[in-house]
Amino acid sequence: MRLPVTPSIEIAPSVLSADFARLADEVRQIEDYGIKIVHLDVMDGHFVPNLTFGAPIIAKLRKYSPLCFDTHLMITGAEKYLDDFIDAGSDHITFHVEAVDDPYLLIERIHAAGLTAGVCIKPATPVEAIAKIAPLCDMILVMTVEPGFGGQSFMHDCADKCHQLRKIVGSDIRIEVDGGIDPTTAPIVAQLGADTLVAGSAVFSKPDRQAAINDILAAANNI
Ligand code: DX5
Ligand code: ZN
Repeated sequence: MRLPVTPSIEIAPSVLSADFARLADEVRQIEDYGIKIVHLDVMDGHFVPNLTFGAPIIAKLRKYSPLCFDTHLMITGAEKYLDDFIDAGSDHITFHVEAVDDPYLLIERIHAAGLTAGVCIKPATPVEAIAKIAPLCDMILVMTVEPGFGGQSFMHDCADKCHQLRKIVGSDIRIEVDGGIDPTTAPIVAQLGADTLVAGSAVFSKPDRQAAINDILAAANNI
């Protein structure tokens, strides 16, 4: 599934907090709850101090889900592995500007493969680092925690980047926020222009995921 068009506010649950042994069922469940985008966190133990999964898991999951696969590459050498994540069935691929030599080339390769493309900035990276490339993307990802782990606290200092980016890219490009999103922080970033809210622990660690999704959506829309 392609990325939904702006300006709808979408929750993109991150499977990082899901049960990896039951991944297909976990993703089917959120689809039943009206979710359109699933966020797939790929970590290499090098760019970030944690390991998750690679392209083979995404390729297997693809057989079970029609959702928009939003692949967040937290890896060194994205250039080398990009085709694997394209071939695995990603719909949207985000890479970190801090981790690549030529971000323009990556955007071009992702688009040439018919996918939508995104660039991501870590908390210490200023918006200026992507000011020129942001308008070439379909969705920009703003980290509001240090990438690597779920369940961390939202970094309020990073939130204003959404506002700065919205001024740069206008209304047609999605702005996604990742880290510490819950019903309390969702309205903060929504008010600043974010429309795609990644939520890992605030969805998958909750016993009632439907209620968790509805609570975040309601909070984000009631601004
Ligand atoms: C962290 C990942 C996030 C993570 C968010 O590096 O990029 O997508 O799953 O987890 P929460 O929502 O629990 O902060
Ligand atoms: Zn992520």
